[in-house]
Amino acid sequence: MSTERDLMRIVIVGHVDHGKSTLVGRLFHDTGSLPDGKLEQIKAMCERRGMPFEWAFLMDSFQSERDQGITIDTSQIWFKTPKRDYTIIDAPGHREFIKNMITGAASAEAAIMLIDASEGIRQQSRTHAFLLNLLGIRQIVVVVNKMDLVGGDEKTFQAIKAEYVRYLEEIGIAPNFVIPAIARDGDNLVRRSERMGWYNDATLIAALDSFRSQSDLAGLALRLPIQDVYKFDDRRILAGRIASGCLKVGDRLLFSPSNKVARVKSIEAWHAAEPDEAGPAQSIGITTDEQIFVERGELASHETHAPIETNVFRGRLFWLGRKPLTRGDSYRLRMQTRDVPVIVEAIEAIYDPDALAQHPADKVERNEIADVVLRSYAMLALDEADQNPRTGRFVLGDGANIVAGGTISMRGYADQRKPVTAKSTNITAVAHRVSNPQRIARNGHKGGVLWFTGLSGAGKSTIAMAVEQELFRRGYQTYVLDGDNVRRGLNSNLDFSPADRAENIRRVGEVAALFADSGLIVVTAFISPYRADRNRARTAAGDGFHEIYIKASLETCEKRDPKGLYQKARRGEIADFTGITAPYETPESPELTIDTDRLAIEESVAAVLDHVDRNFRKTA
Ligand code: ADX
Repeated sequence: MSTERDLMRIVIVGHVDHGKSTLVGRLFHDTGSLPDGKLEQIKAMCERRGMPFEWAFLMDSFQSERDQGITIDTSQIWFKTPKRDYTIIDAPGHREFIKNMITGAASAEAAIMLIDASEGIRQQSRTHAFLLNLLGIRQIVVVVNKMDLVGGDEKTFQAIKAEYVRYLEEIGIAPNFVIPAIARDGDNLVRRSERMGWYNDATLIAALDSFRSQSDLAGLALRLPIQDVYKFDDRRILAGRIASGCLKVGDRLLFSPSNKVARVKSIEAWHAAEPDEAGPAQSIGITTDEQIFVERGELASHETHAPIETNVFRGRLFWLGRKPLTRGDSYRLRMQTRDVPVIVEAIEAIYDPDALAQHPADKVERNEIADVVLRSYAMLALDEADQNPRTGRFVLGDGANIVAGGTISMRGYADQRKPVTAKSTNITAVAHRVSNPQRIARNGHKGGVLWFTGLSGAGKSTIAMAVEQELFRRGYQTYVLDGDNVRRGLNSNLDFSPADRAENIRRVGEVAALFADSGLIVVTAFISPYRADRNRARTAAGDGFHEIYIKASLETCEKRDPKGLYQKARRGEIADFTGITAPYETPESPELTIDTDRLAIEESVAAVLDHVDRNFRKTA
């Protein structure tokens, strides 16, 4: 579909003296990838200075151009084969490379491991192997370089090969190729070596060209993270950049984690005619046949190849934070366009590439690599890193800072898509014979949900009950669903764990939607601390849903402490107490905010009543 050339990112690892710059310089030259006149320029420079030419000078020259900002792309260098383009990821420092790899800043799809034939395996070669395994790079060529120093001897090569392959196998790596080479002279890089006629397997370039490119994202399952939803007239356009796979007009899409389904009606491309299909890296907008409520952060896929849904996963991360990561800490999890809080439930291992070891720990210090278990309050849609290089990654944020990046594994955890997906089947909706307009005509107002959210003690219940009383007096059909009340009956089996709070809000959201549909003004008074849960309630109720943020600072609520619960929570007698030991996510764009720090109760009530009169009264 795309005319763009395939691109593969490779990393070259090896001991400093094993000839990396020479190899790269020679690769550039032998593949015809050098800019015109570059070689002549370097040769002339060598002559002027009276030094013998070396291939490594090419790299030095690229390096200095980069340092001076002459080359446009400052982080990457390229060479080409007829098959594809290659980028060599710069891995100057060991830690920097690990950091980039794990955080995904620059991820390599294949690796060249350089070994010096005259020296054999060094500690650094082992370290690099350990690392590649840790980083999940599975496409590996081992180049046994400087074969001229051992007279191009096959036996020496076989001995090194056997020893290294054995070692690699121990740590779970099977190199795809082991190639004897003389990088300086170009033997077995692009051109087959005449001096080592005994070797008749692939040259380095043939080996690289045989690898599968991850940038071949078109071949993976469709993943379209929703970035924005635009409303034009009555159309909703879901916009995003395709992370992988392809999408066509007419495809049925599943949006996760909301589990909505709709068909693609049109694809809108910026600055282009409406295409019928779109592929990886394209920024598109789509319209759907049915109006569905999805928002930023949802992940669209085909129904048959859905992402995993879970609120817990294992992350292998590189820790960048100044403060150590500690079990129980909470961070922002960012995956594609999704951004939700997570808690570090466990630190399972810290890896030490220098010692080639791993050990358990309570803390992860800056620049350490660790396997952790992360749990989120909201349901997440994700893939494992092995399955998808884009949606299999995450970043952790602490305030404005990025503190970690990592890859996702679900080892030991189940896909929760099934449990959250509707289990009722063979359901046919039955139509009411009383219409919505009839209900409005009788009641004199529209039905709707006034969703109060805020900290315990902010005033939700107090204001809700007063609003109900006054609305009733004014002739509204109305009812309050209050947290403490509903938790005595319908939701008496739920506690205050994130999962149970989600279920609490899910049920209340559905009940409120039914009440609203019956024509009532429902006032709900629940802390409802998680945005995702509130958004689900909004989805259930549709247009008549108004989020009302009953705002008060934690200090105020704690001072009021009407039920003495803050005191108990501070004494450690209540776990997961909102505002103290459990999070509260403030509304991003509520229809109304009532600041009870500043307003008296009557003023707050009046503001809500005014809002209701303006939005729900039947207009002739
Ligand atoms: S929600 O978080 O699931 O929306 P909900 O509004 O139903 O909470 O219930 C909150 C009420 O439960 C609080 O007003 C308080 O009286 C009581 N409560 C008991 N334990 C907790 C707790 N750990 N966190 C918050 N509220 C609690």
